[in-house]
Formats: sequence, C-alpha cells, structure tokens
Amino acid sequence: MVNCKPQHFLLALSFCWWTTSIHVSSEKHSLKPGEKLNSTTLLRSEKGYYVIKIVTSYLQIYGPKNENWPVWIGNRNQPVDTGSAVLLLNHSGVLKIESKDIEPIILYSSPQPSENTVATLLDTGNFVLQQLHPNGTNTTLWQSFDYPTDNLFPGMKLGVKHKSGHKWSLVSWLTSEKPSLGAFELEWEPTERELTIKRRGKLCWASGNLGNGGFIHDTYYIIVSNENESYFSITTLNGELTRWVLLETGQLINRNGADNNVARADLCYGYNTDKGCQRWEDIPLCRHPGDAFDSREGYPNEDMAKFLENSSYGLSDCQDMCWRNCNCTGFKNYYDDGGTGCVFYHKNFTTGTNFASGGSKFFVLVNKPHHKGKKMWIWITVVSVVAALLVISAITLAIKKRKRRLEGKKRKGVETKNMADLAASNRFYDVKGFDDELKIRQNLKVFPFTLVLWATEDFNPENKLGEGGFGPVYKGILPSGQEVAIKRLSKSSRQGIVEFENELVLICELQHTNLVQLLGYCIHEVERILIYEFMSNKSLDYYLFDCDRGKILDWTKRFNIIGGISQGLLYLHKYSRLKIIHRDLKASNILLDENMNPKISDFGLARMFTQEESMTNTSRIVGTYGYMSPEYAMEGIFSTKSDVYSFGVLLLEIVSGRRNTSLYDVDQPLNLIGHAWELWKESAVHQLVDPSLSESFDFEEMKRCIHVGLLCVSQYAKDRPTMSDVISMLTKESSIVTLPQRPAFYLERDYSYKEVSYEELNTDSMEEITTSS
Ligand SMILES: *[C@@H]1O[C@H](CO)[C@@H](O)[C@H](O)[C@H]1NC(C)=O
Ligand SMILES: *[C@@H]1O[C@H](CO)[C@@H](O)[C@H](O)[C@H]1NC(C)=O
Ligand SMILES: *[C@@H]1O[C@H](CO)[C@@H](O)[C@H](O)[C@H]1NC(C)=O
Ligand SMILES: *[C@@H]1O[C@H](CO)[C@@H](O)[C@H](O)[C@H]1NC(C)=O
Ligand SMILES: *[C@@H]1O[C@H](CO)[C@@H](O)[C@H](O)[C@H]1NC(C)=O
Ligand SMILES: *[C@@H]1O[C@H](CO)[C@@H](O)[C@H](O)[C@H]1NC(C)=O
Ligand SMILES: *[C@@H]1O[C@H](CO)[C@@H](O)[C@H](O)[C@H]1NC(C)=O
Ligand SMILES: *[C@@H]1O[C@H](CO)[C@@H](O)[C@H](O)[C@H]1NC(C)=O
Repeated sequence: MVNCKPQHFLLALSFCWWTTSIHVSSEKHSLKPGEKLNSTTLLRSEKGYYVIKIVTSYLQIYGPKNENWPVWIGNRNQPVDTGSAVLLLNHSGVLKIESKDIEPIILYSSPQPSENTVATLLDTGNFVLQQLHPNGTNTTLWQSFDYPTDNLFPGMKLGVKHKSGHKWSLVSWLTSEKPSLGAFELEWEPTERELTIKRRGKLCWASGNLGNGGFIHDTYYIIVSNENESYFSITTLNGELTRWVLLETGQLINRNGADNNVARADLCYGYNTDKGCQRWEDIPLCRHPGDAFDSREGYPNEDMAKFLENSSYGLSDCQDMCWRNCNCTGFKNYYDDGGTGCVFYHKNFTTGTNFASGGSKFFVLVNKPHHKGKKMWIWITVVSVVAALLVISAITLAIKKRKRRLEGKKRKGVETKNMADLAASNRFYDVKGFDDELKIRQNLKVFPFTLVLWATEDFNPENKLGEGGFGPVYKGILPSGQEVAIKRLSKSSRQGIVEFENELVLICELQHTNLVQLLGYCIHEVERILIYEFMSNKSLDYYLFDCDRGKILDWTKRFNIIGGISQGLLYLHKYSRLKIIHRDLKASNILLDENMNPKISDFGLARMFTQEESMTNTSRIVGTYGYMSPEYAMEGIFSTKSDVYSFGVLLLEIVSGRRNTSLYDVDQPLNLIGHAWELWKESAVHQLVDPSLSESFDFEEMKRCIHVGLLCVSQYAKDRPTMSDVISMLTKESSIVTLPQRPAFYLERDYSYKEVSYEELNTDSMEEITTSS
C-alpha cells in the first residue's frame, strides 16, 4: 500500500485492489450460503495446513506440505469440467458441485431446507458443513471425514455407524493417476477387532485382533465400540502429522512415519500367510509357494503379448488376471489411458534377457525361494542321511504337512504371524517378522521415536530420573503400563548406526541378575535412545549418602549389595562372551530393585563409545573422579583392574556411608581412601563404619570388607585382586592372605590432583578429559 504513488493512482489502485482481493480470497476458510468456489479460488484452513480447491476435474483437499496428491476428493467417480465447475452452498443449505453439461453432484442436502449454514475447512483436514443455532451452538450436518477416499487422518473413523448403517472405509485409487474407486478396500471388522484389506471383495490381508488400542509401527490407534458406532481411529501424538494412505498397489503406508509400510496386500498371493496375508482356496494349480511377481524395467518383446484395453482395470487387476492364467508370465499397464488396461506376456523370461534396457516398468513371474519349503527339504535330507529307514515315514509326514498347509481351511493359521499376537500381549508390537525393512536384532525391540516421546511425555523434566554418564535417564510408561527407564544418549557417540546396533545386540546378550537388562533401543535422526527395565528403588547413592535414607540400608542389605555388585562385575570381566570393562563403576550406577538387590547399569556403554580406540590405552578418558584408578586417570591405561579399583572405592563408601571425594576435615587425609588407610594402620577401622548402622553389624564381616576394599585400591594394578579373588575373600575369612599396601592417591594426592579444581573433585557426574598422551 505504501507504494501506491498518486501519479500512478489508477494503475496503483487497480493493482492494490487486485492484491487485496487475492489476499482476501486466499485467506477465506469457509463458504457461506450463496457463496461459490470456482477453479480460480480456494478455501484455506485457519492455520493454513489444508486447502480445498477444484483442480483437474475434481474437488480436492491438499495436505500440509501441498504434496502432489490430494488427501481427499469430493467427486472421485464423477469428474467435472474444471473451467465451469463450482462448489456451491445455496440458501437452502444444499452443498453441491455444479458444472456445465452434468447434473449437480449433491454432497449434502438436508431433508428440510436449513438456513444459517456454513461450510468450513478445518485444520484437521476435515471439511464440515455446520448449522448455526441462534443459541450459539452448532450441529454438524455433513463432513468430509465421513466420506474418506484413500487417506486416513487422525480423527477419521474406519468402521460403522450402527443406526444408519453408514460405513467408513478407505478405497484405493484405480491407478496412480485415476482417483476412481480402485481394487483395494481397507475396512474395520468390529467383531474380529481387526483391520482387513480386500481386493475386489476378496480378503487379502488381516491385522488380527488389535485389542483395545495401542501401536502399529509409529502410529497410536484407538478402538471404540458402543451402541451408536464401532470404529478404529488413528491419533496424533505430539502433533506429528500421521496419515495412512491405501495405495492402488494394495500397500497401506504411513505417509509421515520413518517406517512406511503398515501392510502389504500386494505381496499376498493366496499361498503365503506371513505378515497378515490371508490364504485363498482357489489358487491356480500352476502357481506354487514362492511364485511372485518381480518388477523390471525395459522393453520386453511384445510379439506374443496379449493386449486388454479396458479403463476399469488397474494394475492389480492385471496382476490378478495374470496370476490366474497359467500361460501368463508377466504383465504391465496398457499404454496411455491413465494407467488402466493390461498387457500380458507369455514368453519365458527366465531364458536370457528378452528385453532391452530403459523403457517402462513391467512385472515378471519369478519363483523366490520359499523359506519354509527349503527348511523342510533340509530337514528331510538330514533325516534320510541319518536313518535311511525313516525316509519313507518322514516324506509321508512332510507331504501330509504340506497338504495340510495347502488346504488352509482356516483363515488364521498358526503361522499367521501378524501384529495381533504382539498387539494383544504388549499393546505395541515387536515388528519382528512383520516388516523386512526394519532391522530386528535378536531380542531387542526397536522402539519408534513417537513411542519414546509418548512414554516420557516429550522428555518431560518431571520424568527425569537422573543424569548418567552418557546422558539423562527418564522414567517412561509404555501403553501397556510397563514402566521403563529411558536413557537418551548424549550426542558424543562417534559410531554409525550399524556399529551401534551391532554393539547393542552384544550388550543385550549380557544377562545376569546383577546387571540392568536392556529391553530395546530407538534411533531417530541424531537421537540414540536405550530402553532398560525400570528399577523402582533408584540408585545406591540415593540411600548411601543420606543420613536418614542410609538407615534403610542395614548391614545385611549392604553386604548383599556388595556381593551382588561383585558377582555382576565378575560376570562382565570373566563369564560374558565379551570381556567388558565398565570404566565408570560408581554408586549412582548401581541401581536397586524392589528387594534392594543391586544391578549394575551403564555397562558396555564405555566400550560402545570408544570402540574405535584401543582397548588398553585410550586418549579419551571416561570415568568419574574419585573412582578412577591412578594408571587410568594419569595415563589412560585401563584393564579389569581399573574396575577393581572402582569397586574398592565403592566398597569403602558402602561401609562408611561417605563419598570418596567428600572433604570432611582439613586436618585429616582428604579422601576416604586415605582416611581408611590411616584407620587400618591404627587398627581403628570401626571408626570408619557408617554411624547409620549403629552397632548392628557383624564386625568380622565389616573388617573383611574394609580389608578387601583397601586391597582393591592398591596403587599398582598388579597388587589388586581379581574379581574372583574378591568374591572368595569376601566369603571366606581364611582366604585373605595379603595385607593392604599403601593405597593410591594417599599422600601423593597433592600432586595428582593438582590440575583438578575442588569443584571438579566434588562433582559426581562423569567427566571427560583428554590427556596429551
Ligand atoms: C471465480 O470466483 C471469483 C470470486 O467469486 C470471481 O471473481 C471469478 O470471476 C470467478 N472465476 C470464474 C472463472 O468464474
Ligand atoms: C438449492 O439446491 C437444491 C438442489 O439443487 C435446489 O432444489 C434448491 O431449490 C436450491 N435452493 C435455492 C434457494 O436455490
Ligand atoms: C440450541 O438450539 C438448537 C436448535 O434450536 C437445539 O437443538 C439445541 O439443543 C440448543 N442447544 C442448547 C445448548 O440450548
Ligand atoms: C459455530 O460455528 C461458527 C462458524 O464456524 C464458529 O465461529 C463458532 O465458534 C461455532 N460455535 C461453536 C460453539 O462451536
Ligand atoms: C448414542 O447416541 C445417543 C443419541 O444420539 C446419545 O444420547 C448417547 O450418548 C450415545 N452413546 C454414546 C456411548 O456415545
Ligand atoms: C471392462 O471390464 C469390465 C469389468 O470386468 C467389464 O464389465 C466391461 O465390459 C469391460 N469393458 C470392455 C470394453 O471390455
Ligand atoms: C494356454 O496356452 C495353450 C497352448 O498355447 C492354449 O491351448 C491354452 O488355451 C492357453 N490357455 C489360456 C487360458 O490362455
Ligand atoms: C522357462 O525356461 C526355463 C529354463 O529353460 C524352464 O526351466 C522353465 O520351466 C520355463 N518356464 C516356463 C513357464 O515355460
């Protein structure tokens, strides 16, 4: 407006009017009685997420990113003349599309004429026609969500409205260019509580019972069933724009998820029952398990091809016809007509290359090795080699088995491994066996990021349990109600995704009652998240270094904790397949379960974070001051003996209830180790004992612990016992033969800690320092 100069008044005025009118019309988000929408105008939802407009013969809603494909179409079976078409809300409350040469397409017409109506495009993507009452309330007369096309939005329903019998389902497009009703339909079966995909009425895929709600891949869903309606609906978590689309190929995809496929009805051939595919009884005799269509690109020789021009056939219809014709070896779309019609091949594609490169996509029949058949074959071979006599019976058995498998009378066989099994048990399902594209590693679950966000309420600080060496830990609750601890690793890992996953699989194998169990992980962009079992009693430091809470840990419990930690550490050092050096053993890394049994956490992380470096000498020192052995802190040399050192410190802390780094008296040696050593020399170890324990403890046991603790903190690694020595010394008094040597960091303390400020000395969080060596 500022630029509207007087000398160009007329021109400027018209320009300004033009821009203003464009501005106004583009901001409009509703249609009032008498108003029209034509091909040059559009409605935009309030926040601009969606637009509705008439383009290329259809009334269409486009999504947030203005993708090329509409999310909803008002007249999918009745294309109109774009130039003359209008969407109109007339004064009797009728919402319709008018265009020259055709009868109006009525979207809504009320039984009795209603005034005061308004049609609004909402930010949910729903286009609603409402009646405004004088008392300020509105009734929804019609909404686009009740007439889904191939897109499922959060808030949209799949199912049935009992009273009117109105059914909500998705129907795919006929081809990728033609939005008319296609071959596939996604429906909700309220009685079976499952989603199904049918191809031209024939059941291809079923989810299995989905329980009462939960997760399917990245999507959280709800199920509602009452006297008025029964439906399935997906919901949005944390504002992520989840949307499912049923493609013309039979694939059901999640448009905004990292994992795209929710279901693949295109891979169901009638003989396979994996991933939710359903068995058909009328499989042609010439088709066998393992037969499938594979896409190729090129110009196949069309000498012997058969052409079928019919605008009501999409690609999946061609596939079905080819599958049923035993002479057919491949197919593709008929040339131009919006991808409709078919070309069938009868050549043998397995002999040589029958096509030149380039060209368009076509499909050929191949026989992919069928796992189950192969396994059975191997089994038969082994049996026949081992015992020739059993061959006949084995083959008979195998044939019977196969026959039974082919008979497939029951829709849901035992093999039907689908989301239901797991959805029912855990409400979100282990994707194992469901989607080849997701890497599933041994017993580790891959948690979708949305689930992690949901479980921790967006990493709500209120759910934070603590800050571990490698990042903060949050309490999370899964939809099943299971409590978990979720560790969000700080971003310093230099590992790639593959190395990270490999490492996790190894760590997952470490199973011991005194180690915290890893349940799964999540990788999302730069995020690396580990999901652990939840320990209800926090960590050892929470009790140990607090006067009141310290009383909860009586000597029996403390001795049990010491025993548990030593067993866990021994397992890491000696009995696990990997030799793990923890490198950051400390009170806050010892978690306690509901019975106060100790579980070591954060093991394996140090290894994971520095895998590329030498295992014996590192330039990158991770650990916590006060727990680090001298050779590690000074020279970066570490071994199982550096863990033994940390264990010794921990032992003395458990006995005394004090932190090694606490400065309690200027006149005394500054750290706990030095203090313990002084008292040992003076034969006054009872003075070290935590006052919270009062007198109720076994003095011999206590003394043995202090003795072992002092041996563990010996200055030189060679003087420290191994963990198996520690365990035998702790259990049998007689086995202690060595006397403690002067411990590390005693007297030399002043030199060794010179570069370290008191602030750092006091800190309990892990420090990373890089030495110059
Ligand atoms: C479309 O509608 C706008 C505003 O109602 C009007 O100015 C314009 O002329 C119409 N265009 C056509 C092609 O009818
Ligand atoms: C609104 O449209 C309907 C159907 O086309 C028609 O029967 C009715 O007369 C129209 N009402 C007005 C006020 O134009
Ligand atoms: C508002 O008016 C409508 C129509 O008269 C009526 O159906 C509705 O119950 C009223 N709502 C309230 C809250 O009074
Ligand atoms: C009714 O609809 C009008 C127009 O869409 C809107 O401004 C108003 O907030 C709505 N009232 C209620 C109670 O939903
Ligand atoms: C079912 O519909 C009736 C009438 O519209 C309504 O009063 C009732 O609350 C509905 N029931 C449920 C469970 O929504
Ligand atoms: C196309 O296929 C449909 C469905 O099978 C059939 O009804 C129709 O007659 C066919 N049209 C032509 C031109 O062959
Ligand atoms: C398949 O090919 C054979 C021999 O070429 C022919 O006799 C038969 O009719 C064909 N069958 C079909 C269904 O096209
Ligand atoms: C195609 O050729 C291969 C190799 O010659 C043969 O084994 C196969 O049976 C043939 N397939 C068909 C459908 O004729």
